[in-house]
Amino acid sequence: MTKPLTKDDYQPGDVTVHRDPDRLRRVTKALKAAGRNIALVPTMGALHEGHRKLIREAQVLQNTVVVVSIFVNPTQFGPNEDFDRYPRSFESDVDICREERVGLVFAPSADDMYLPGSTVTVDPGPLGDELEGRTRPGHFAGVLSVVAKLFNIVQPTYAVFGEKDYQQLTLIHRMARDLNFGLDVVGVPTVREPDGLALSSRNRYLSAEERSAATALSAALVAGAHVSGRGADAVLEAARTTLAAAPGVDLDYLELRAPDLGPAPENGDARLLVAARVGSTRLIDNTAVLLGTGDE
Ligand code: PAF
Repeated sequence: MTKPLTKDDYQPGDVTVHRDPDRLRRVTKALKAAGRNIALVPTMGALHEGHRKLIREAQVLQNTVVVVSIFVNPTQFGPNEDFDRYPRSFESDVDICREERVGLVFAPSADDMYLPGSTVTVDPGPLGDELEGRTRPGHFAGVLSVVAKLFNIVQPTYAVFGEKDYQQLTLIHRMARDLNFGLDVVGVPTVREPDGLALSSRNRYLSAEERSAATALSAALVAGAHVSGRGADAVLEAARTTLAAAPGVDLDYLELRAPDLGPAPENGDARLLVAARVGSTRLIDNTAVLLGTGDE
């Protein structure tokens, strides 16, 4: 028999941690029935200032209770990727959630998220094989599948994601539309260190020397955006020159695309995206650029 909800399932003014998907779903359902909106911030933990910004954006959406999910999703890591060493800091993550006045933390186990014998996944379509997908086959099927599960469990009104993972954000927008999830996907601009480095949980892997070399990614985006009035070739050349001058930065891709990640237009809004390995750490970054307006 399912146990009735009690005041311990949601305490206004404090954070409540839930591990059981069914119980969490009943809590958010009850909150919605009481007239609240649910804003979901999906994370893999190791929370930093970038996540705080996502939570703050979620707080200012209308009448929301914020739910932060913390789950290092095994299905989005390739066999040679960093699943085992991905930073895990659950206690301090919950402290951050408390400081940010998060209502609910959802921290399921892998066994609760993936029942034995589950085989159905979300196919991201062709964009899932491009850019990040070329180096990380299956990554976006893993991301979209777990995000779809989180949407179904939490039943949010809003779901908030960072623009740092721009391809992920684009695919989640598409999934929400194509599969009729009936929620608003909200994108939040990247938070950067004063020297431009985009905040990422993976920055913790960098040595001091690598940390300094890693600023080449954001510097390349700035250099490209600076000459955007001269068109796509100038943007790519400026960005590539900056990356080539940085020691220890092994470029994976540098691409200009349309904002929806289709082919870049000759003029107008575009997105410049970069991925590179610095030491053994793979980093990504991106920025909006306005091509060919002649106003560099
Ligand atoms: O961006 C992330 O942290 C993850 O890809 C996400 C969206 C939480 C899915 O595991």
